[in-house]
Amino acid sequence: MEEKKRNIIFSGAQPTSELTLGNYLGAIKNWVALQEENDCIFSVVDMHALTVRQDPKKLRERIIELLALYMACGIDPNKSVLFVQSHVSAHAELAWILNCFTYMGELSRMTQFKDKSQKHADNINAGLFTYPVLMAADILLYQANLIPVGVDQMQHIEITRDIAQRFNAIYGDVFTIPEGYLSKTGAKIMSLAEPTKKMSKSDDNANATIFLTDEPDAIVRKLKRAVTDSEALVAYREDKPGVMNLINILSAVTGEGVESIEARFAGRGYGDFKAEVAQAVVEFLRPMQEKRKALLQDRAYLEQIYREGAEKARARADRTLRKVYKKVGFVL
Ligand code: TRP
Repeated sequence: MEEKKRNIIFSGAQPTSELTLGNYLGAIKNWVALQEENDCIFSVVDMHALTVRQDPKKLRERIIELLALYMACGIDPNKSVLFVQSHVSAHAELAWILNCFTYMGELSRMTQFKDKSQKHADNINAGLFTYPVLMAADILLYQANLIPVGVDQMQHIEITRDIAQRFNAIYGDVFTIPEGYLSKTGAKIMSLAEPTKKMSKSDDNANATIFLTDEPDAIVRKLKRAVTDSEALVAYREDKPGVMNLINILSAVTGEGVESIEARFAGRGYGDFKAEVAQAVVEFLRPMQEKRKALLQDRAYLEQIYREGAEKARARADRTLRKVYKKVGFVL
């Protein structure tokens, strides 16, 4: 029996584009560590992806690829619940109920909605608007108390709390009030092209971002082109954001300290430095990439994983959903 009270942790990523080295170091690595001591639930949130137009064939492929990538990064389906959101219908069902407890005004203040409706001005659909409500359903269904996310998602955690508190105030203690959890470990990985901007999977400049699935030659090429400065000095200084970022990357993937890196590259140029960073990133990603490739060749196994994951998730989600249905007055 468990003695210590474990956190219930929920997080997810959309299967819309490849994950980046920044995503791995800033988020997934943290998830892998969390699963050792906590009750973790990780989801491929495919329903969220539909708020932006998707090609069905590509979406189907990306869902499986993201699942394989999670596992290749170390998410262990024996330790965590790993599932695909659309396989558990309670997400859509609870989202509907929560829609009736969410105000137009609060949704229209979401900065991600404002950004995305600018970016997809030809498709400002209602799903894009109520997206945070679906996210609230994801979290509240599992009574999760800790939600590891990036800063860009903090506003969505806030609205989840507001919705949950509003519901609880009317119906009693139905939902656990979750907290956002910003990973403090590891430096923030910045764009290789504009090192004052965060490395982003949706960057238009393909050279700005290292994807977890990048081939060695792509990694070498991108790092060769990484923006630095004209000083030819490997030093960790705020006024050298490009060099700082490369030092952070090298340090994150090798574990070598910043000072040791500075010392080793004293008197050497950026060419050497970039080549070594590239090699280190290639070596770092290699085992994960090999594991991902092997997993993708065994579709039957992946299918077994996502079926079992859905079953486990469904059992837990349905418990909360039934409670909610009862509270609001539905006949069970
Ligand atoms: N909206 C999140 C993103 O785009 C993904 C997400 C969906 C999520 N549901 C979630 C994250 C629940 C944490 C918890 O990154």
